[in-house]
This record gives sequence, structure tokens and C-alpha cells, in this order.
Amino acid sequence: AACGAGGGDDAAGDDGTITMGFAQVGAESGWRTANTKSVQEAAKAAGIDLKFSDAQQKQENQIKAIRSYVQQKVDVIAFSPVVETGWDTVLLEAKRANIPVILTDRAIDSEDTSLYETFLGSDFVEEGNKAAQWLLDNTTGAQKVVELQGTTGAAPAIDRKKGFEEVIASRPDIEIVASQTGDFTRSGGKQVMEAFLRSTPDIDVVYAHNDDMGLGAIEAIRAAGKVPGKDITIITVDAVKAGMEALAAGEINFIVECNPLLGEQLMDLAKKVVAGEEVPARVVTEEGTFTQEQAKAALPDRQY
Ligand code: AHR
Repeated sequence: AACGAGGGDDAAGDDGTITMGFAQVGAESGWRTANTKSVQEAAKAAGIDLKFSDAQQKQENQIKAIRSYVQQKVDVIAFSPVVETGWDTVLLEAKRANIPVILTDRAIDSEDTSLYETFLGSDFVEEGNKAAQWLLDNTTGAQKVVELQGTTGAAPAIDRKKGFEEVIASRPDIEIVASQTGDFTRSGGKQVMEAFLRSTPDIDVVYAHNDDMGLGAIEAIRAAGKVPGKDITIITVDAVKAGMEALAAGEINFIVECNPLLGEQLMDLAKKVVAGEEVPARVVTEEGTFTQEQAKAALPDRQY
């Protein structure tokens, strides 16, 4: 368990209000939009003064934002790192300024775990495991899989690939025949899928690291005269509304859930960290999976 660094020189403002600097990845996907909304609403509800920045999927922008939060002497910094590596210098600056850092959604790859208090988010390897397990359980015979990876170097892209490969290793007739990044965006997924359809004959399965890329792939598949969800099986991750609608309509075959509603837990952790209380070093989000029938049942109450 990590111990709160105390929140700058004066933990929380004179009136007790906590200021949080939040450096968001961008607005690349439906998941991200829901995550941003959750963080903003939860901050408001918790009475936390939120300074928010959108890095447009660029690490340099996120580093600049974190540096500016250090200069502004916020009480706590939270961020969802675009990529896993390259954070030590800027996080050391925050540490030296005695400003605690919370990782949310995505992890960093650093040997120095004293650079952050806790990491709140999903188990992305487990998500990849679940995607592959469904494929194992629902197919027989050879399967040619094309993979639409998330942003290169991002924790969910690395881990969802790894988790999927771990599980398909037990079925040598399932093969990833092509794998490329679509940057977690719908347009990226569409473009890469168009190229795959031109270069790779007889694709059986698309494994997309998020719904948005899967939705882009559906457009490309349709344009190629094939029926998504029937001629080509589609598995995605996230379970945002647009993904769930495509699943319920039979165009996607299976979705592994990744929960973007991290705001409330993040604000709770922030309060504890600023107060110098102990927090767990890792808080894992609970999440499930959806078949087409389950999507139909869940859709009416889906918040995002
Ligand atoms: O880090 C979470 C991932 O980032 C989501 O699965 C994806 O949609 C988003 O862009």
C-alpha cells in the first residue's frame, strides 16, 4: 500500500477545497468521452476543483499539462497515460514538489513505483483473455484472425494483445494473420480493415481492441460486400452504447466490457491521498462480457 504524499505544501486549499489536475488522453473513442464525463461529474459531486486538459493522444501534450499542474501547485494530479513509457522525469518533478499522483485507467511502465500513489483501472490482460476464450468456446476448426490494435505503446494495446495471444496459444488452428494499430479510433479501424481486406484473403475473425475500431471495421466489411457478424466474426472491447447497439443488431459477435465510469472511485482515492491516508497500490475495476442476447437485455439501461 502506498502512503499519500500529503498534497503539496498546504494539503488542500485554505477553505479545504482540493484542486485536482487531470491530464486526459484525448477524445479518441466513445469510451474516452464517457470517462471524461464521469471524471468531470464526480469532481463536481465531490466538491473537488478540477483542472482538465485533453492531450489529443500526444504524450508531449500530457507532459506539458502535468508540468503546468506542478507549477500551479495543485493538491493532486491524476492522469491516464497515453503510452506506458517515458514518464519518470515529469513524475519526479511532481514528487519533488510533494504533489501526489494517481494513475487512472492506464498504467505506466517504470521501475520506480514511488512516482505514483495508486493505479485505478481495468485489468487489460484479463480483457484479452476473455476475448480469446469466447473465440475458443464458440468456434471449431481453423480461424484466421486480424487484429486491430489500440494506440502503439499504450497499456491497453500491449495488454489486450498479450492476453489474447496467451489464450489462443492452446488452439494452434487459430492464427493472427495480420495485426496493426488503428489508434483506438473509428476512422483508424476502418482504414486498417480496408487494407486487411485487400491484402488478406478469407478473414474469419476481427479482434478489435475497442468498439470504435470494430465499428470502423464494420463499415469496411460492408463496403467490401461482406456481412459483418456473419461472414466475419467480430470481437471488441469496451461495451459503449454504439458497440452494444451493433452487438444487439448482430454485427458484432461478442464484447468484453471495459468500464469507463472511474470518476467516483478516483475522487475517493484523491481525498484519501491528499489527507495522507493509506490507499491500496492497485484498484481493479469490476467488469463482465456481453453476448448478442445480453446486449439486447442491457441496452435499455445503458448509461453510455
Ligand atoms: O484505456 C482504455 C481504452 O482507451 C479504451 O478501451 C479505448 O476505447 C480508449 O480509447
